[in-house]
Amino acid sequence: MAYADIYAGWKADPERFWMQAAEAIDWVRKPSRALFADTAPLYEWFKDGLVNTCWNAVDRHVLAGRGGQVAIIHDSPVTGTVHKITYAELQARVASLAGALKARGVTKGDRVIIYMPMVPEALEAMLACARLGAIHSVVFGGFAAHELAVRIDDARPKAILAASCGIEPGRVVHYKPLLDGAIDMATHKPDFCVILQREQEVARLVEGRDLAWHSFQYGVAPAECVPVEGDHPAYILYTSGTTGQPKGVVRPTAGHLVALNWTMKNIYGVEPGEVFWAASDVGWVVGHSYICYAPLIHGNTTIVFEGKPVGTPDAGTFWRVIRDHRVASFFTAPTAFRAIKRDDPEGRMIAQYDLSSLRALYLAGERADPATVEWAQQKLKVPVIDHWWQTETGWPIAANPAGIELLPVKVGSPSVAMPGYDVQVLDEGGHPVAPGTLGAIVVKLPLPPGTLPTLWNAEDRFRKSYLSHFPGYYETGDAGYVDEDGYVYIMARTDDVINVAGHRLSTGAMEEVLASHPDVAECAVIGIADELKGQAPLGLLCLNKGCNRPQSEIVKEVVGLVRDQIGPVAAFRLACVVDRLPKTRSGKILRATMVKIADGAPFKTPATIDDPAILDEIRTALRGLGLAKA
Ligand code: COA
Ligand code: AMP
Repeated sequence: MAYADIYAGWKADPERFWMQAAEAIDWVRKPSRALFADTAPLYEWFKDGLVNTCWNAVDRHVLAGRGGQVAIIHDSPVTGTVHKITYAELQARVASLAGALKARGVTKGDRVIIYMPMVPEALEAMLACARLGAIHSVVFGGFAAHELAVRIDDARPKAILAASCGIEPGRVVHYKPLLDGAIDMATHKPDFCVILQREQEVARLVEGRDLAWHSFQYGVAPAECVPVEGDHPAYILYTSGTTGQPKGVVRPTAGHLVALNWTMKNIYGVEPGEVFWAASDVGWVVGHSYICYAPLIHGNTTIVFEGKPVGTPDAGTFWRVIRDHRVASFFTAPTAFRAIKRDDPEGRMIAQYDLSSLRALYLAGERADPATVEWAQQKLKVPVIDHWWQTETGWPIAANPAGIELLPVKVGSPSVAMPGYDVQVLDEGGHPVAPGTLGAIVVKLPLPPGTLPTLWNAEDRFRKSYLSHFPGYYETGDAGYVDEDGYVYIMARTDDVINVAGHRLSTGAMEEVLASHPDVAECAVIGIADELKGQAPLGLLCLNKGCNRPQSEIVKEVVGLVRDQIGPVAAFRLACVVDRLPKTRSGKILRATMVKIADGAPFKTPATIDDPAILDEIRTALRGLGLAKA
């Protein structure tokens, strides 16, 4: 069947479409129907079903006789090791870890924070929680202790599972002191922590609170899978919003299983047993959906890659992994390709490896710039598929459904809406705009299975952030247009979110940190164009009257503050001092205009500006940083 027929079939009868997709999942009790709309505009899917995620991702494959198939390959150029785990081994390891958690009192509905680098134990921790019906929340290793503390206080975990360290090129990331610092800072205290001691760094355990990963499992009875209701939260994943308080995106169990399983064949074009690789991190949604859950639910082999696209040891690493493990479908962020292209512009290293197993490359997480897409197409000689989605949705909103049919690629567009998503573009007044016209990209409610039903502990914020601006629609926060052929184009965010090397960050959160500096009276953080990372944060600071300390010192201090408070992942390195910030007459800071000035892009002076002369002052200051070139 062609994509257009499948999409039309979904639109004509979504209930039938999703009930059919649900047949690929093992249920303890089958759901009576797909959509539950009684609390609209809040929706639930497969709510009266009973199911277990870990059973579907692990046990059922073993029961089906595929226990000998490799489930996880840990390929770690930073430690020089490769390690394979079969489905049967994974089942034993996860059941044992879950058994140990259960013995310490972790049960269905309890929250468990996971703070780990790219090791298979991170996936095992997620699956062990799923086995018990406990709700995990994975925190990315590049966040600082303060960010971890904020998540501890919001999720209120019974336990925290962490590793002693992570390994970044050139440095060991000391997870344990970060964890200890976060627990000290947080008001909520976990009952216990379990620490995976890595040989690169053995951490000191806090007596009475910390347990060692292996000895804690000694002698415990393995745990069985606990059936949970379809709407039971599988996990909470915090993502950046407009303020320093991250949004806890809730992932519902049953919709997550059904939707992710559907995507593996239809979007990523793989059959069970094939090797699928998403080079991301378990701390991000891509890692949740496409390193851990989807490939395992679908019975694929997944790769946990602990390295970088360049420098571990070189720009040929990705090609080596694809060759060594016969990867069929590969997913990464455009920024990784920009990094490779910078180091190996001719693609000489690509030519050194046999990449005949690779059928397609998928890019997401940020805008895929045409130059990068074209370079990848030319060098890899496989379709390069840009696709668009968000932490909130958990799976692609728009893609080129290669497993159904490969539609013509339009470079610059993540292609077309997937079944489940009725994507529309609205003007400020909420009216649909004509094809090709810029506007706010929205999805007509209900969102499909697997997408967020609410925010953890914050239903009002959920309604306010996503549902209230355009009643009847989910507001994506992205602006763009849809062309005559239904191809979606994502052009910019409509809020304070920026995308730095595929990492979603909040400029609002960075502003809160800058504003906490005693010499800073007012500030703004904007995302400026960056050749490698897509965007980079830039801070503009107005100092308190009478402050006569050297500006360079203050800049250095605020750079340090962001690193300490948010983490190295913010990559906040650029800031300058200005006398005033440009504002509208009602006092709103004109951030978008400053972005244009910094990028040297043409702009119109906003009619509402209070004092146009400030724009010249900003330009001069930015030129001092080597920006704002005409
Ligand atoms: N744990 C601890 N620190 C981390 C980290 C982690 N998991 N991930 C990144 N960091 C740190 C880095 O070490 C770096 O610290 P530094 O300032 O001391 O050098 C900082 O955060 C910024 O990291 P990053 O944005 O990754 O920049 P980089 O210059 O180290 O590497 C790329 C640039 C392009 C190679 C890299 O960003 C990359 O591989 N991007 C792909 C992103 C991706 O897969 N995103 C997932 C979305 S699909
Ligand atoms: P995250 O929640 O971290 O996955 O980030 C989601 C945001 O990243 C989206 O709302 C977009 O702004 C951006 N994004 C993700 N994929 C794409 C894409 N293919 N093209 C353009 N922007 C994208």
